[in-house]
Amino acid sequence: MPSTRDLTAAPVEPGDATVSYRGDRFRRYLDADTIRTRVQEMGRQIGDQYAGQNPILVSVLNGAFMFTADLMRALDIDCEIDFIKLSSYGAAKVSSGEVHELKSIDADLEGREVIIVEDIVDTGLTMEFIKDRLREYSPASLRVATLLHKPEATEPDLTLDYVGFQIPDLFVIGYGLDYGQLARNLGDIYILDDSA
Ligand code: IMP
Repeated sequence: MPSTRDLTAAPVEPGDATVSYRGDRFRRYLDADTIRTRVQEMGRQIGDQYAGQNPILVSVLNGAFMFTADLMRALDIDCEIDFIKLSSYGAAKVSSGEVHELKSIDADLEGREVIIVEDIVDTGLTMEFIKDRLREYSPASLRVATLLHKPEATEPDLTLDYVGFQIPDLFVIGYGLDYGQLARNLGDIYILDDSA
């Protein structure tokens, strides 16, 4: 079942580290330890829910690769993996509102327990697109695990089954999330510093 506890991210102390990319400044928001702890919790929750089953994780490239690797290692059940790749923001900080499939999945999802693994749900357009696309394969079940969720930006009817952290409607980078392809390698997650 979706978690009902408060998932609002507790940011690290202000005045902590900042990074700059493409002329914009970002401040550290979720450190690697906090992320690791929460991903472990999500793994346990998903592992309990799928005990005795063999779900297939469908990881959304590129941003979710790091979260997927950590989440998969936190699962102590049989599980499989496949990847789907969609158009991204490019070098922008706002969604273009259009989603295109750049790489489709290879696995046969018919009758399978499928978990979409995403880095972040912003407007929710991408997730709606993926859910509709994967439903075409007639999976036995289809759930969503996202590390981050911007609830203020998301259209309200979208169901997210596993959410790591709820965050404000501000651009974030690090831990797989990019800004014009940069910053994916940061172990911490940084948020746009709009105070400047
Ligand atoms: P949505 O369709 O608006 O929900 O956007 C989802 C996709 O946009 C995600 O898979 C990310 O690739 C990208 N995205 C959304 N918000 C951010 C962000 O704050 N930082 C980096 N990428 C983001």
